[in-house]
Amino acid sequence: MINIRNFSRTFGSHKGLDNISITVRPGEMVALIGASGSGKSTLLRHISGIMAGDKGGGDIRVMGRIVQEGGSIDRHIRKTRAEIGMIFQQFNLVGRLAVLTNVMLGSLGRVSIFKSLTGRFPRAVQEAALEALRRVGIADKAGQRASTLSGGQQQRAAIARAMVQRAKVLLADEPIASLDPESSRRVMDLLEELNRQDGVTIMVSLHQVDYATRYCQRTIALRAGQVVYDGPSSALTPAVLKDIYGAASEDMFGEELFAETDEPAMAEVIPQPYRPGLCAGAAA
Ligand SMILES: Nc1ncnc2c1ncn2[C@@H]1O[C@H](COP(=O)(O)OP(=O)(O)OP(=O)(O)O)[C@@H](O)[C@H]1O
Ligand SMILES: [Mg+2]
Repeated sequence: MINIRNFSRTFGSHKGLDNISITVRPGEMVALIGASGSGKSTLLRHISGIMAGDKGGGDIRVMGRIVQEGGSIDRHIRKTRAEIGMIFQQFNLVGRLAVLTNVMLGSLGRVSIFKSLTGRFPRAVQEAALEALRRVGIADKAGQRASTLSGGQQQRAAIARAMVQRAKVLLADEPIASLDPESSRRVMDLLEELNRQDGVTIMVSLHQVDYATRYCQRTIALRAGQVVYDGPSSALTPAVLKDIYGAASEDMFGEELFAETDEPAMAEVIPQPYRPGLCAGAAA
């Protein structure tokens, strides 16, 4: 479903992505972890074809179709991108538009731009959008401006948009980074449902390792643009995490992270020095 071969992206003298090779099979839900600046967002942006890699720097295919090769984005990227859902940490929705309209925008790959610009989405799209909002539990917000939704509701609307898009692959970049534990669980539950029931292949970057181990069987970890771990999330031990996040993580990855409890260690398991903007972002 996602195939990345010897892929590199250099920013000046900085190696943002350094010879990455990853294969994700259909139906997988994979966590992407790593310290701030390790390359998670950069990788997801290149998979979706928003950014082009280094000249001669490997290739990326999604659903067997070339997204980019040797530093050039494929000519048919729009068609491929129509089937790739994207969810970001923030700014997923057009704030001044109604929630329902935002969700209907997921159909843009199929509905003509003219119809959508004039606000005339086909009835079937409207119904699909309402059904998707029902599935994510916010159908009662359909007529509200998107900017009036809470952070968690916005993420759920973004998931509804991916449902309307009928995305086969979903790339989610820290979708729960600024949410409280309850909202985070709801969003992750919905991603899990999308993966299990609808068979959507998901790659989700997370900075809370406990969510990775809880929701994703497989975790890929980046450090300085390189894949330093790719394997079962259950095999992520404190020693492995120390290798991923560096020596400063020694004190915070306690054994309790791996204990079988109903209430996981929700506290930020990644220390503040790695997430300088987190507190400010969470409060905003
Ligand atoms: N457009 C760009 N121009 C220059 N440098 C960039 C650009 N995009 C990313 N980088 C650099 O590449 C590295 C990886 O950044 P990236 O945003 O992918 O990290 P991240 O793992 O998503 O971090 P975070 O957890 O903070 O979101 C960083 O050093 C960043 O400064
Ligand atoms: Mg990022």
